[in-house]
Amino acid sequence: MTDGLARTDTTTKERLADLERRRAELARPYDEKAVERQHAKGKLTARERIEALLDPGSFTELDALARHRCHNFGMEQQRPYGDGVITGHGTIDGRQVCLFAQDFTVFGGSLGEVYGEKIIKVMDFALKAGCPVIGINDSGGARIQEGVVSLAYYAELVRRHVQASGVIPQISLMTGPCAGGAVYAPAITDVVVMVEGISHMFVTGPEVLRTVTGQDVDREALGGAYSHNTVSGNAHYLAQDEKDAFEYVRLLLGYLPSNNMEDPPVYAGSGQRDAITPGDRVLDTLIPDDRNQPYDMLRVVQGALDDGELLEVQPLYARNLICGFGRVEGRSVGVVANQPMHMAGVLDIDASEKAARFIRMCDAFHIPLLTFVDVPGFMPSVEQEQNGIIRRGAKLIYAYAEATVPMVTVITRKAYGGGYGVMGSKHLGTDVTLAWPTAEIAVMGGEGAVSVLHRRTLQQAADPAAERERLREEYERTLCNPYVAAERGYVDAVIMPHETRSHVAGALWALRDKRATRLPRKHGNIPL
Ligand code: HXC
Repeated sequence: MTDGLARTDTTTKERLADLERRRAELARPYDEKAVERQHAKGKLTARERIEALLDPGSFTELDALARHRCHNFGMEQQRPYGDGVITGHGTIDGRQVCLFAQDFTVFGGSLGEVYGEKIIKVMDFALKAGCPVIGINDSGGARIQEGVVSLAYYAELVRRHVQASGVIPQISLMTGPCAGGAVYAPAITDVVVMVEGISHMFVTGPEVLRTVTGQDVDREALGGAYSHNTVSGNAHYLAQDEKDAFEYVRLLLGYLPSNNMEDPPVYAGSGQRDAITPGDRVLDTLIPDDRNQPYDMLRVVQGALDDGELLEVQPLYARNLICGFGRVEGRSVGVVANQPMHMAGVLDIDASEKAARFIRMCDAFHIPLLTFVDVPGFMPSVEQEQNGIIRRGAKLIYAYAEATVPMVTVITRKAYGGGYGVMGSKHLGTDVTLAWPTAEIAVMGGEGAVSVLHRRTLQQAADPAAERERLREEYERTLCNPYVAAERGYVDAVIMPHETRSHVAGALWALRDKRATRLPRKHGNIPL
């Protein structure tokens, strides 16, 4: 331009070059040394994690140019693009997800005002778009330099997680430290995956614990991945490394819908519902003649699922109960099953809470429930009573009773006492209940029943042992079978074990369009 009127100080070419320069700057690591330290710890960087998790080339970044506005402690001298968290959307197996990845190489991944704004923005985006949100956590927590603003954003973030709960799937990948109040954001999400050796979660760290209480405990024992997967139940999967963690998340998402208005994706089934396979026949010999001998319930579960595939949730926690996702004829199901291999499959506090949370997740996301029952009842124990097995066991009953998804239950062996009613019984709303001929649906087993009913008779018997045996046999013949329940319609069909797969598939197919309505209310009051 030569007339001077439309003159600009920079040309278009220069402006484009300026953007290129900014892009190059944000693509470069902010702190090479911090990246080296990250790698030395066996950790990937935030960008490497996004690349490893998402479909190649699918990531679109949001707010890459965002920078903090803090002036405390010389912070204005360090204003890296992105502010320590990478946010955006991409695809996994072609389905859209939103994510945020905390970048430990920038201010220790600590959360400040702009960082918080970015996460909230991507969560709101996920809610509007109706897609899952994945948080990759690796952070020193609230950014100390930004003070109360950081705390405010944590609370804002937690509020978003609560609003999104049951609307879109929320998954937390723990790939570094997570301490203090920061732990509550992942705790609210549906599934928490922790990586062995590199992830830690605690409200109060070992140093503070030592100072305040004198208790000496190391990081791993207090809040390591193994500890949270086996003892506290705060985590749902123990990944051997980050690759394993990403693989678990990808598989998990395959069972879930993108939001609560959609159904989970449907895959092709085998189309062989009624053909009896050798694998089906194996179930006919699975139940030992001795009712106190354990067997592996996983074999029953796998027998009913497509390709025998079960993706367990919390496989190392409360192992007396199995929870996990599978497919029947290509459609997602949530499996809940007692495991006689651990503590005889008894229900205790941990098993009840594990199952209750899983059932509610399935119900929120339209995933039918398939329950397998072999339960001697609730755990008799002073410690369990004092720790609230009444209130905490009630969560399981509540979860089943409020669920409106299709529900199918198979009773393989024991369904004693409270265990019968609680484990997806007809009376709690299950649509189809099936029982094997080996099912024993009764108030209790023979030994216990005889002791309660015939104490005086046994005291007076000439041969108490023989009399006990006779009475036990009589009790078991009369009541320990599936037919008393079947006569009343509490059991819809008594089936041969090898017929399980076809009956389960048939029932779930018949129920695929199940509709259920509840009375309007703000929300129930589940015992917490
Ligand atoms: C600002 C932080 C930071 C933080 C770490 N950094 N945490 N900067 N705010 N919260 C910085 C460090 O100064 C350092 O900067 C860099 O990140 C790497 O940290 P290192 O300590 O060198 O790393 P490492 O040895 O691996 O130890 C990681 C750590 C430790 C265990 C996370 O940094 C730590 O204890 N940080 C504080 C944790 C904490 O108490 N956070 C508050 C939690 S309460 P340079 O420049 O040296 O590289 C909370 C409230 C939530 O979050 C409220 C919810 C309502």
